[in-house]
Amino acid sequence: MTEYREKSYLPCNVFLIGFMGTGKSTIAKALQKLSQAEIIEMDEIIAQQEGRSISDIFAKEGEAYFRSLETRLITEIGTSCGKIVSCGGGVPMREENVREMRKGGKVILLTAQPSTILDRVVNDSNRPLLEGKKNVEDIRNLMEQRRVKYEQAADVTITTDNKTAEQIALEIKEQINV
Ligand code: S3P
Repeated sequence: MTEYREKSYLPCNVFLIGFMGTGKSTIAKALQKLSQAEIIEMDEIIAQQEGRSISDIFAKEGEAYFRSLETRLITEIGTSCGKIVSCGGGVPMREENVREMRKGGKVILLTAQPSTILDRVVNDSNRPLLEGKKNVEDIRNLMEQRRVKYEQAADVTITTDNKTAEQIALEIKEQINV
């Protein structure tokens, strides 16, 4: 982690937002190769801090508790610079989170078709909000409920269907002028 911090070419934090399965974590890694920036993987940090999985946090403490952890973390991140932040899919749903992101960086929205999302999440069991909803119709509905907030939070929107992570990382790099 420290290895990257000193060499980052990013002028400000880059927040990758978007629905579950839009490729935020994978694209963060590809962007890291281009920018040498440190990655902050929000879900991973929250799970580490809590000493349990995201599914466990949801099951035992409920969603509101998890959301307050996200807000605390995004506020802490706001004080740093030059990092790639791979956000949990629900982060832009809270206005205070969006304010924090826009204060300290560029917000990049990644999108994908519901069928692409389904392909990417079908075998994953650590996304509690998708349990029992792993079908195109339910995914489309949940995406639609969130669409406006995602769009309002974003400085730049990038579609990810049928593109490699490297292509997308290059697009982001061009969009943020580094
Ligand atoms: C969530 C997305 C997940 C994780 C949690 C809730 C959401 O992150 O934060 O399960 O509300 O969209 P990913 O988008 O990285 O899967």
